[in-house]
Amino acid sequence: MAEKPVEALNEAEALAELARLAQAIAAANTAYHTLDAPEMSDADYDALKRRNAAIEARFPGLKRADSPSDQVGAAAADGFGKVAHRVRMLSLENAFAAEEVAEFDDRVRKFLGHLGALDYTAEPKIDGLSLSLRYEQGMLVQAATRGDGEVGENVTENARTIADIPLRLSDAPAVLEVRGEVYMSHADFAALNARQAASGDKTFANPRNAAAGSLRQLDAGITASRPLRFFAYSWGELSAPFAATQFEAIQRLKALGFQTNPLTVRCDGSEALLAQYRVIEGQRATLGYDIDGVVYKVNDLALQARLGFRSSTPRWAIAHKFPAELAWTELLGIDIQVGRTGALSPVARLQPVTVGGVVVSNATLHNEDYIAGRDSRGQPIRGGKDIRVGDWVQVYRAGDVIPKVADVDLARRKDGAQPYVFPDHCPECGSPAHREEGDSVRRCTGGLICPAQAVERLKHFVSRAAFDIEGLGAKQVEMFFKDQTLPVKTPADIFTLAARDAANPLQKLRNRDGFGETSSAKLFAAIEAKRTIPLDRLIFALGIRHIGETSSSLLARHYGTWENFAQAVDAASGFAGPEWEELTAIDGIGGVSARALVDALHPDTAERTEVDRLVAMLAVVPVAAAATDSPVAGKTVVFTGTLEKMTRAEAKARAEALGAKVAGSVSAKTDLLIAGPGAGSKAKDAERLGVQIIDEDAWLALIGG
Ligand code: IVH
Repeated sequence: MAEKPVEALNEAEALAELARLAQAIAAANTAYHTLDAPEMSDADYDALKRRNAAIEARFPGLKRADSPSDQVGAAAADGFGKVAHRVRMLSLENAFAAEEVAEFDDRVRKFLGHLGALDYTAEPKIDGLSLSLRYEQGMLVQAATRGDGEVGENVTENARTIADIPLRLSDAPAVLEVRGEVYMSHADFAALNARQAASGDKTFANPRNAAAGSLRQLDAGITASRPLRFFAYSWGELSAPFAATQFEAIQRLKALGFQTNPLTVRCDGSEALLAQYRVIEGQRATLGYDIDGVVYKVNDLALQARLGFRSSTPRWAIAHKFPAELAWTELLGIDIQVGRTGALSPVARLQPVTVGGVVVSNATLHNEDYIAGRDSRGQPIRGGKDIRVGDWVQVYRAGDVIPKVADVDLARRKDGAQPYVFPDHCPECGSPAHREEGDSVRRCTGGLICPAQAVERLKHFVSRAAFDIEGLGAKQVEMFFKDQTLPVKTPADIFTLAARDAANPLQKLRNRDGFGETSSAKLFAAIEAKRTIPLDRLIFALGIRHIGETSSSLLARHYGTWENFAQAVDAASGFAGPEWEELTAIDGIGGVSARALVDALHPDTAERTEVDRLVAMLAVVPVAAAATDSPVAGKTVVFTGTLEKMTRAEAKARAEALGAKVAGSVSAKTDLLIAGPGAGSKAKDAERLGVQIIDEDAWLALIGG
């Protein structure tokens, strides 16, 4: 008997159908898990579960207490729950030119000490959003978005409605996390937008946004009605090895029932990669879905493991992006925005124009030299053409990056158009705006007295990778900054907010527009919760120029506690002496970052007083070194001579992963010198200083091979 479509069921039929499905799914589960004798194909089983979910989405009141939807994974989310990824979800380094691909190949081979051509895979880079699917004993138990790579959103119920995602796998490892891209085809996107427009709902700018908007729906019923697709291309946690090569792994994912991209091929060396890039680029227009480049990955998984990761990208892969999309439009005006570090950034206000499917009305103009037609060394760019208000300009957009003005059409320049004069005073606070020698950026000198800088610092302070205070985002920060009764002008003010509110009997936050009893209490609780903060987040939150997430975590790992860190920075304030040497010797902290750090935290300045006031109100959690249980954790090691079992780069990466610090020269602080054949002056230094010297084999034995 043909099944009646879900849309055609009445309530009584739906009730009966839910009962039938609950029974059929329970029987299939027993046959599969308890009896090890599956009676039904995976596809039929998936169809039952999907029909059940669709009926529940249409008749939420009929959902059974023993609903099969609730038997694995989390119940439908009330807001999205958070999922900590057991294996981080990384992003990819980008390459735009063929030379960068050759450089990538050289780098990889050098790292591995591999002389011949290396085997890679090449596959399209799907322009969607990544999703991690966790299967336990073959059952889909959790689906999570990438989020910040460490913590994503729980979208399990939604993922279950995507036809390309199997709900059950046969012959899979006990734990298998499959990763890939959720996307929408061009045809489905056009039809969805037409439906949305017809019903007066919001339309989407491009298929990627439509896919993201459809997956991230609190109501899984809506996701079910959107035609999402999924390509599998990677994996996270695995309870057993999955394959020996990237290519085999993809084949295995395919055999398990996933869609894998048919344009995935193996390539011998970087020339072959570039050839496949051209093949994929040639097919781009007729694929029927958006791709924005080609991803190259080292094929051998053992080599991938040796290559490992940088802070947020693997060393064994790169995304070769397609050239950006272009359009011409009129430049209506130039606005100056003042950033967190005082940088004056010119922004082009444009006659709105569609660039690669997205309407663009603002674009960056970088800095004053860029507008004038010069690069940072004074050399002409765009043939030396400057950009003037009223000009016809070319707008360029690549992926998610901010669109930029790339070129100007002098033939269409209006008579009387004047060269743009870049302001030499801050448009926000009127302070002089200076350019330091060698810096392409003009900066407001107002510091904390500049409202624009102060607000941007606050926004950075509460941002996701910093204090991440729930209910206190960019919008609320702007509101509190301007507030008369409960002003927040600096980060420290955030932590006195509750006490100030309590002390003010009349104008309570809870009586404000947009706030109530619950939301104000929630906000104060969220702030209170963040009084305890890990050192790396605190350093990052200070918003010091050149000190991003990676540097903050390096500094935190090196100094361990706020007290150590602050003392060291104070002692380095003369840019000389042992503390300065130590700071600049931290691998990954260059002279520029060190100088910016010491400048920003200079004792006896208003800025530093504010930082001390803030820290006095916090409990800063010390950060442990990278790995504390390895025999070399916390040790300073130096490599010298020729290493025979691995390259210098690999040796360094492994030592660092085990918590050791790798220095370039031997000093009294060195714990261990690993000397290969041909070791020279460093070995002599080590002998003189009484530093222990071992050979490469002894080092490998020490770190466990
Ligand atoms: S591999 C550890 N392969 O691109 C590397 N990523 O820019 C994991 N993406 O976050 C990613 N197509 O969302 C990989 N064939 C592909 C891809 C792909 C699209 C996305 C993915 C990733 C982003 C990085």
